Amino acid sequence: MEIDRYRLLLCVVFTMCLMKCALGFEPVDNYLLDCGSTKNTSVGKRVFIAETSDHGFLSNPDQEFVKSADSVRILAPYGSELYTTARIVNTTSNYTFSINQHGRHFVRLYFFPFGLDSGTRNLSSARFSVFAQGFTLLKDFQPYFSPVVKEYSLNVSSDKLVITFVPSGKSFAFLNAIEVVSQPDELIPPTAKTVEVPGNHHSLMTQALETVARVNMGNQTVSPENDTLYRLWNADGPFIKHNSYIRFVSNLSAVNYTQGGPTRDIAPPSVYGTVTKLDTSSNPGLLLNNTWSFNVDPGFSYLVRFHVCDIIERPPSELLLNIYLNSLLVVKDLNLGEQMSNIWGAPYFLDAVTRASGNRLLNVSVGTSITNGNYPESILNGLEIMKISDSKGNLDEDETSRSTKKVWVIAASVGGASLVVVLLGCLFFIISRRNRRKLSQECLSSNGNKDLDESNIFSRSKIGYRFPLIAIQEATDKFSESLVIGVGGFGKVYKGKLFGDTIVAVKRGTPQSRQGLAEFKTEIEMLSQLRHRHLVSLIGYCDECNEMIIIYEYMANGTLKEHLYGSDLPKLSWRQRLEICIGSARGLDYLHTSSSKAIIHRDVKSANILLDENFMAKVADFGLSKDGPGLNQTHVSTAVKGSFGYLDPEYMSRQQLTVKSDVYSFGVVMYEILSGKPVIDPSRGRGMVNLVEWVKECREKGELEKVFDPFLAGKMNMESLKKFLEITDKCLAEEGVDRPTMYDVAHNLEGALALHPEGTEVKTPQMDTISETNHAENGVSSTLFSEASVGDLEGVSMSRVFSEMVKGEKPEMR
Ligand SMILES: *[C@@H]1O[C@H](CO)[C@@H](O)[C@H](O)[C@H]1NC(C)=O
Ligand SMILES: *[C@@H]1O[C@H](CO)[C@@H](O)[C@H](O)[C@H]1NC(C)=O
Repeated sequence: MEIDRYRLLLCVVFTMCLMKCALGFEPVDNYLLDCGSTKNTSVGKRVFIAETSDHGFLSNPDQEFVKSADSVRILAPYGSELYTTARIVNTTSNYTFSINQHGRHFVRLYFFPFGLDSGTRNLSSARFSVFAQGFTLLKDFQPYFSPVVKEYSLNVSSDKLVITFVPSGKSFAFLNAIEVVSQPDELIPPTAKTVEVPGNHHSLMTQALETVARVNMGNQTVSPENDTLYRLWNADGPFIKHNSYIRFVSNLSAVNYTQGGPTRDIAPPSVYGTVTKLDTSSNPGLLLNNTWSFNVDPGFSYLVRFHVCDIIERPPSELLLNIYLNSLLVVKDLNLGEQMSNIWGAPYFLDAVTRASGNRLLNVSVGTSITNGNYPESILNGLEIMKISDSKGNLDEDETSRSTKKVWVIAASVGGASLVVVLLGCLFFIISRRNRRKLSQECLSSNGNKDLDESNIFSRSKIGYRFPLIAIQEATDKFSESLVIGVGGFGKVYKGKLFGDTIVAVKRGTPQSRQGLAEFKTEIEMLSQLRHRHLVSLIGYCDECNEMIIIYEYMANGTLKEHLYGSDLPKLSWRQRLEICIGSARGLDYLHTSSSKAIIHRDVKSANILLDENFMAKVADFGLSKDGPGLNQTHVSTAVKGSFGYLDPEYMSRQQLTVKSDVYSFGVVMYEILSGKPVIDPSRGRGMVNLVEWVKECREKGELEKVFDPFLAGKMNMESLKKFLEITDKCLAEEGVDRPTMYDVAHNLEGALALHPEGTEVKTPQMDTISETNHAENGVSSTLFSEASVGDLEGVSMSRVFSEMVKGEKPEMR
């Protein structure tokens, strides 16, 4: 009888196990809130509940909800929809969740300071701290200009989880979405082996964890949708310290979860089924490690989990792995076969706790010991790095080391190309340090440059995106002429591929004058401080061997100019034109208002507005001078700079440079957009050479259609056009004081866009086919930083100093 009951119980347990395996983990607590949203939002298989009315989660009814402008497109690796609304928290407030099952919970906080419809708030100026369960999750946090998910694991042993948002000083907090979700108990063990001293770390149960990195080897991103616990696994490529024996292998069907081994909740098949391996079979006898580098905060301990699974078909051999953290041995001669009872494809994981002391980098290395006759081979399938709360319950450090940390915030959070490139920057920075010796020898032989280390113009500077020349040579096929996508006063622009898949634009300066070097330096300094969705971003630079190379994000659709005239590219719709106007106006507004001193672009023109693969506009060629020598006030007022045809008349006559000069130039760009014609064209004949004068004249005569882009005829909403012209008139006012701010321009343009509802135009069929192939293959047509237009009058920059900082002037935001 006893035995039978026992059997039955076993049977039930077994069935439940089977069901659980089939269904995946079902979290008991599962709160998914889309803050500030008026309707529920489905993200894949999950639904985030609208959180505008009071659901009893937030203590403080002093609430405010905001929504991003409709034109804003947000690209996040998961749940882009969640970032379009937010809840603003003005005073200390608690989110309270009742907990039905004690134990570890994931807390995921979504942040993105999007552009707002109504300009009452600038979300990017938010600054706040977040506390939960006595832990400091975030301290004086300032969200970055890209979508971020901060993920924590908290062990909750009470019936409530309270998450407190505290605005810093007079600032405020905001939140786009939040998840509080139960974790399987098996996920975090109570103890883990320590690396620095032999022994174990015992207090994991009571400590909070923050996910710092979760990467999938084999260079494949795994979306939360493909993970039973909705975790994002970033591709490992950007973290790899490159060597030529790295191979990515994928063999998902080989993964064989076995009894007693890790389950799918530990890591999904798409993690165990791909591997980054070291394969030196072409050079047996060579002993190497595979190494990945990650940023960490000194003073904290980290729980590191290595996922290993032998999915590579090979002659039966022993795979003996040596795993290191920052050159300290974690395990020697790990025999996977032995660990997993010789079941091929059985997953395995190993935890270790390490302390980051003094070092901002955590290097993870996997190597092997040569075994009888087998060639050296090592593998790793996945890696998780979790920061452990310190003795005071902190997971975030204070102010002092924040500047370097910012880069990491984005790095840790999400994938996505632009994020990947930032990581690449960090990575290459590391490599460049290491390779300095080797490279300097190469320079010696090629250039006769003896003082390489002195030639680093940023030595000891905070700017961390320094790439070694060798990486750039590799990316551009040794500056192959076939990859040139633009030529200008500065030099040539190449299309390059970093790491085999990240496409970048590489601007290489010609051998320098002193002046060139100063400009190069200021451009990099400026660019590294300015980050905005509508500004072309800096990926890195290289100053080795007297080179002046700047690496930018690649803009697949080239310049706005070439989409308006002078090329065979498909025409842009009115909607696209308005969206491009709004985007570039936002970018300029950011330049004008984001720092304490206004930055004036000085060369706003259609050739300096670039379009990415989604035709999102980004302003380029900005950024110089921060109190730089030779760029003082006198200098500004004596030399007229900018491009002919776009110049502010007030500036030309009085040499008074203000942000309103950019507003004027932008008005000219708006005419270009409307007419699809160059700003200056001597071939047009009397009275029509200068577009601005021509349009004015036509409007006076009521013959505006004469200057319209014929492509737009009948495809514009007239009210929208009227509004557009109103804004243009204001921008082109003779006196700077009468011109609106770029903020107002962007805002009013959004009004013009709203008057032109979607679907009011026929989409040109070719639109969708504008693609990489069109441009990338035929590189020359897709000139990036198209200073190639030197031939056209209006493209001539009177100076390569495009923008200038004007002391003490900051336009008011309304
Ligand atoms: C999940 O993985 C499968 C197989 O690798 C892939 O085809 C699918 O696109 C993935 N789904 C998501 C949402 O990434
Ligand atoms: C691998 O890395 C460790 C730690 O940095 C080092 O001690 C070891 O010598 C390396 N092995 C090889 C073969 O380079």
